[in-house]
Amino acid sequence: MFRSKFFSGIPILISGILITTIAAGTVYPKTASMISKNKHTSTAVVSSKSTSKDGGEKTAEEAYKNIKVLKGMPASRLIPTMRFIEASLGMDCGSCHVRKQQKGWEFDKDDKPEKRKARKMIEMMEAINNNSFKGEQEVTCYTCHHGNPNPQKIPSVQTVSSLKEKKAEEEYESNIISVPNRLNTPEEIINKYISAIGGKEAFNKITSLKYEGTTENNGRTASVTIYQKAPDLYYSSVKFDKGEMTKAYNGKTGWASGWRGTWELKGDDLEDIKLGADFYLPIDIQKNYSALKLNDVQVINGDTVYTLDGKATQYRTAKLYFSTKTGLLVRQVIYNQTPLGKIPVQTDFTDYKNVNGILFPFENQVSTYENVENVKFNKITANVPVAEKMFDMPAK
Ligand code: HEC
Ligand code: HEC
Repeated sequence: MFRSKFFSGIPILISGILITTIAAGTVYPKTASMISKNKHTSTAVVSSKSTSKDGGEKTAEEAYKNIKVLKGMPASRLIPTMRFIEASLGMDCGSCHVRKQQKGWEFDKDDKPEKRKARKMIEMMEAINNNSFKGEQEVTCYTCHHGNPNPQKIPSVQTVSSLKEKKAEEEYESNIISVPNRLNTPEEIINKYISAIGGKEAFNKITSLKYEGTTENNGRTASVTIYQKAPDLYYSSVKFDKGEMTKAYNGKTGWASGWRGTWELKGDDLEDIKLGADFYLPIDIQKNYSALKLNDVQVINGDTVYTLDGKATQYRTAKLYFSTKTGLLVRQVIYNQTPLGKIPVQTDFTDYKNVNGILFPFENQVSTYENVENVKFNKITANVPVAEKMFDMPAK
């Protein structure tokens, strides 16, 4: 194990609605900037002067050394794709990639049979989808692997407990969920949510926020401070034993800093921070999510909820869960679309409390394929004075 499971992703609360798992870049080589520090892999930092068609970004094969099948995608999609493989197979980077004592990671090397096999599997998956599913992404690595390097081929037998579970499920499904005064459109559900949190007018009176609290992961705790300023300035700091991790966005540039230094956020990491930096996101859901669609009504944690699907950014879609009773947002899942499949990050919002006439969730549980993080705020203060400078990337 080369990586700490602790704070490999730091959850950040944004606008009381959006938590994005932030790659700490310090313990986990999933950021392009970290990989670029390894002399033996080509740089993944995307240059704006690049040659490819996709928004001026380099393609994976242009930015990396040894890409044989994942061709044509923007270079910044490569690491999310690797994470999708990791999540689907339950294999970490080191299962397929070599790491040398002195030289560090050599991601381009094909020494490990697992890596060569994975290449064949990518081609197989593409062929299955093209030949049998009209090119739709119906079969992914996860379809067969389910978090297991060796997929099961023999159906399992029933056990007493699995039969019990099945029975409970059937009973649950046969219970048609009834919702009094059921709402029928995304607009109605969003409007109910906006008035439930306190309304547009009250929210518009807030122009800055300071969040103070803790984040707990695997039994270890760190303190969190977040500053936000309208319209889209964002700053977070997480302090733990080993040091401090900062992540910020000044409306143009996203950056991070930790004990490895300071670096600019690009590609996927930039998309994450931008996605949530919108101060008025809770009252601007319809502006920020396109193609909003009312999905179904389901029960989570004993609460009946409406689920809305929407598209957030080029590579992010979202599922939003609103309580049919209180109207509040109780869960959100953001999906990061990679060429091989989608990686979900789920956030559950609880403990809504009033701050300047607006309800904010003081407890947020962020679940990824790797771990669960609990963020608890003990104080959220509105309209605090914030120096705009703090959002700018410091000179190196
Ligand atoms: C199951 C095997 C597997 C796992 C696990 C895996 N990778 Fe990969 N990785 C590959 C394959 C296969 C390629 C080459 C893809 C191609 O040829 O198009 C690759 C390519 C790469 C490259 C490009 C190297 C170059 O210069 O050509 C990087 C960087 C990389 N992986 C990083 C990671 C990281 C970081 C992780 C962990 C999050 C990871 N990989 C997990 C199989 C894997
Ligand atoms: C249609 C089912 C299916 C799909 C889809 C699939 N796999 Fe597999 N995979 C298997 C089976 C079955 C095995 C085990 C048999 C074998 O090793 O030949 C396997 C084995 C592997 C192994 C070797 C594991 C080990 O411990 O040696 C790797 C690596 C792998 N798959 C990667 C992937 C990746 C990456 C994807 C997605 C791009 C993928 N697979 C999609 C069925 C699938």
